[in-house]
Amino acid sequence: MEQPAENLSSDRVELRRWRMTDLDALEQAIYESLDHLVSWMPWAANHGRQQTADFLARSHDEWETRQAFGYAITSGAVVIGSCGLHRRIGAGGLDIGYWIHPHWTGQGLATMAAAALVAQGFQLAGIDRLEIHHDAANPASGAVALHLGFTEIERMQATEGPSAPGEVGIDVIWRMTTDQWQARTSEHAQRIG
Ligand SMILES: CC(C)(COP(=O)(O)OP(=O)(O)OC[C@H]1O[C@@H](n2cnc3c(N)ncnc32)[C@H](O)[C@@H]1OP(=O)(O)O)[C@@H](O)C(=O)NCCC(=O)NCCS
Repeated sequence: MEQPAENLSSDRVELRRWRMTDLDALEQAIYESLDHLVSWMPWAANHGRQQTADFLARSHDEWETRQAFGYAITSGAVVIGSCGLHRRIGAGGLDIGYWIHPHWTGQGLATMAAAALVAQGFQLAGIDRLEIHHDAANPASGAVALHLGFTEIERMQATEGPSAPGEVGIDVIWRMTTDQWQARTSEHAQRIG
């Protein structure tokens, strides 16, 4: 498979490829989430309607060039967050990013959304590993990686130091390889089979 499905579902959330018509819904979700996004997401400090429109345009282009696959996380018809698979970690790899509106956190929804991305990521041609990167001061993000069965492989000083106010400038890198994914899925199949 060269590119993932545009619509994915995972238990209690649906993921669908971002489209330009999401501008108002995304704007509202970001606006209501700013207080908790600004600590961890460098872009949140300069948030505005134009930046959101630019993000949607970039998401479209990156999908077309297969550099990244960005999705709205929705519950019912409501946009409650964003996530994506990105080619930022070299050949054979994709990294996963996510955020959730604070009204919807603490319910396992980021983990569910990321689980859908993991299943889809490993179906893409040439992919042998997925990674999740977060700052060491952000344990909620690390908990998502842990829940998904990723292994922490490294902690390293961020080259440019902290990039958002909540960060301490230490990147934590979690990885899952194809072999680990296959072992996990066959274990799961045996358990329910
Ligand atoms: C990180 C984020 C996506 C998690 O979303 P979520 O939907 O709450 O995630 P989940 O419910 O699937 O899992 C979160 C886990 O983190 C745990 N957690 C939350 N805050 C925590 C903290 N301060 N310390 C340790 N664990 C914490 C939760 O208890 C939960 O684990 P549990 O299910 O074992 O209880 C959300 O908090 C967010 O959007 N944060 C701001 C943006 C961000 O940091 N994005 C990631 C950048 S790398």
